[in-house]
Amino acid sequence: MCGIIGYIGHRRALPLLLNGLKRLEYRGYDSAGIAVPHGHGLYIAKRAGTVAQLAAMVDSLDLPATMGIGHTRWATHGEPSDRNAHPHTDASRRIAIVHNGIIENYATLKAKLQQDGYTFHSDTDTEVLAVFIGALYEQYGDLELAVRAALSEVRGTFGLVVLSADHPDILIAARRGSPIVIGIGDGEYIVASDATAIVEYTRSVFYLTDDEMALLTRSGCQTKTIDDIPTSAQLLELEFDLERIEKGGFPHFMLKEIHEQPQTFWDACRGRLLALEGNIKLGGLRSVEDTLRRARRLILTGCGTSWHAALVGEYWIEELARIPVEVEYASEFRYRNPVLSSDDIVIAISQSGETADTLAAVREAKLRGATVLGIVNVVGSSIARETHAGVYIHAGPEIGVASTKAFTSQLVVLMLLALYLGRMRHLSATQAREIAEEMLRLPDKMRSILERSQSIHSIACQYAHAQHFLYLGRGVNFPIALEGALKMKEISYIHAEGYPAAEMKHGPIALIDENMPVVIIAPRDELYEKVLSNMEEIRARRGQIIAIANDNDPDIARHATHVIPIPETLPLLTPFLTVLPLQLLAYYAAVERGCNVDMPRHLAKSVTVE
Ligand code: M6R
Repeated sequence: MCGIIGYIGHRRALPLLLNGLKRLEYRGYDSAGIAVPHGHGLYIAKRAGTVAQLAAMVDSLDLPATMGIGHTRWATHGEPSDRNAHPHTDASRRIAIVHNGIIENYATLKAKLQQDGYTFHSDTDTEVLAVFIGALYEQYGDLELAVRAALSEVRGTFGLVVLSADHPDILIAARRGSPIVIGIGDGEYIVASDATAIVEYTRSVFYLTDDEMALLTRSGCQTKTIDDIPTSAQLLELEFDLERIEKGGFPHFMLKEIHEQPQTFWDACRGRLLALEGNIKLGGLRSVEDTLRRARRLILTGCGTSWHAALVGEYWIEELARIPVEVEYASEFRYRNPVLSSDDIVIAISQSGETADTLAAVREAKLRGATVLGIVNVVGSSIARETHAGVYIHAGPEIGVASTKAFTSQLVVLMLLALYLGRMRHLSATQAREIAEEMLRLPDKMRSILERSQSIHSIACQYAHAQHFLYLGRGVNFPIALEGALKMKEISYIHAEGYPAAEMKHGPIALIDENMPVVIIAPRDELYEKVLSNMEEIRARRGQIIAIANDNDPDIARHATHVIPIPETLPLLTPFLTVLPLQLLAYYAAVERGCNVDMPRHLAKSVTVE
């Protein structure tokens, strides 16, 4: 969601804050701001627009401060505007805060403060919290106490940092439901909502847990609960380096991440896929091995692209392990009063590990006694910490808002899980070996698709001004059709729908005419003939067909307007290859339309609010 940065140490804070905001811009980006101590008060600059625009406002200023806070905002309460941008201040303008999350009881608090004579200058819930902290500070004369007292009264979620002109030697950070990570340098601390803003300064970090706060000074750090009970921080080493969060010569992060997939595929398999033995090793699941052996049902949950990965996982696990699987949107699961027992295993899938609905589903499932596992990318994230066990996908930081490499890495882990569960049951080593050996060939096959992306580029340019797209697939490629449609709509703003191909005649066929491009996933598998029939139905209505088909398919060109060839693989493994052209098609269409690919409008990388 939004991005937070805070610094206390010996460097000039302003350049570090602006650099941190640039790194965080992918999380939310309609406005940005900074605050640093200056003279006897605070210097605050904030505005609607990009970090670059904020930087242009302050770059020439000679602000010597060696501490400060900054924020990039993705609007929740109040439109994107200068006055709604963070930091927000209390009535005295001597306390400033940056905040991610939502203060749910802000209206009640605001009304009470207004009765006491306080006035407000923005539409945000964050300003209410700032004024509330200020009012309590007036009352107690103690900043830490005021912050703790305010946070005990608010309902909702927060990741925040507080700065006070009266205390230019301390930063206070706190979290409930919205991540805060603290980097430890030499006589300095960097606070952020995401480690990408920290890694170029230090790799040594710790994450705050819910209802925990940190008091950071140049000489040390103290952590405690909001109720004043001391806690001890668990130090972690960040595993990625600066290169992983830079574009490396690509025009966009999304394109870079699409091209990283042969490598990230392999990173997710490394040490886990024992192809020669036909076995799988998943160290993160050792503690729940017996529970998995006994499992009678699995429930996979997630949002957006992660939910699509779950749908592919459903096919694989049912096919290879013969365990019934249900897939549910986390947002529905959490409110549905699900029937769960201690025999059930719920698996939460999330790139960020911070998606509010998925985290809430994890908590709900735990409360009802299920064993809850995570398939997560961000190490140390909330879902990774709150699940009983899990498997990291090791895709490295994903910066483009549209998820690409995290999706294929989620698929790798789901396939490994299906094989692992299968081997615990009836799947023979020979059957597992056949799949495992083919998986080892996939990175090269993925690379060969990426090398031929020029033809996808020209198809994308031809249809970039279409109003609608239809995506069709069957079996394990039905979720890939959904994913292709999601990619297209989120970055190019073209309306796109994904359907199981056979469902077309139950409604969507009415939409087809010469202006409707239809992307059909048609690898040679047991449903191939049926997909060809669907293509004929589309051709008969003058629809334009873009077929994703095997490169050795001699017939397909007769049925399609365009063919995007992919190498042959086992039918079950085709999603690893069929999704790549769809990612590229969406990418090139968005670029052709002049869209901001890495930061599509209204979207944020990690949705930490409901
Ligand atoms: O971090 P998560 O995997 O939990 O995020 C879930 C969705 O918000 C995410 O996949 C979203 O749909 C992406 N924009 C898709 O590209």
